[in-house]
Amino acid sequence: MTAQKPLSLVILISGRGSNMVSIVEAIQHDNLPAQVSAVISNRPQAPGLDYAAAQYIPTTTIDHQAYDDRLSFDHALAEEVNKYQPDLVILAGFMRILTPEFVQQFSGKLINIHPSLLPKFTGLNTHQRAIDAGEAEHGASIHYVTEELDGGPVVLQARVTVLPDDTSDTLAKRVLAEEHKLYPEAIRQIATGQITPPK
Ligand code: GRF
Repeated sequence: MTAQKPLSLVILISGRGSNMVSIVEAIQHDNLPAQVSAVISNRPQAPGLDYAAAQYIPTTTIDHQAYDDRLSFDHALAEEVNKYQPDLVILAGFMRILTPEFVQQFSGKLINIHPSLLPKFTGLNTHQRAIDAGEAEHGASIHYVTEELDGGPVVLQARVTVLPDDTSDTLAKRVLAEEHKLYPEAIRQIATGQITPPK
């Protein structure tokens, strides 16, 4: 049997990058059949860039503040991503809404992690909103990205129990620990064909 070619990933971040780290570590230590071709941030100060550079992963910043509008930023971003011809474009804490043009260009290759059990709690402040709503369970979702914000088909979820004394911070911490297992697992299942892009 010939070895499967690793999936080439471009990971987009805006900040801390702990999900990106979990993917890199799963490749290094857990036989995740992938390689990170580049990490791209829209923020020059994103701490995740330092980690990626220390791992000898090519890093680039496309600073959204240098562009007049969303469309021109997305054109520059797409051009950078296309240099690597990735199999998957991984949004990992990438805090920009992407234009339909960008989403269509990478349709079926673009995935995101969102800290809620979608379709519940799209958007921001998901942990506090789950507590306020009296949810018994909360979690994280991996979904293909479509033009609808946090609305594309969900492919994998992780659940945590909401505890009576949870604050947004304590709940976020437990969800994040699950996210760090969930993203590598989703990429693994895409690599093996257990998860396939929406038609
Ligand atoms: C994660 O909670 C992710 O679900 C959300 O943004 C956060 C990013 O964290 N989209 P990190 O930058 O990966 O540490």
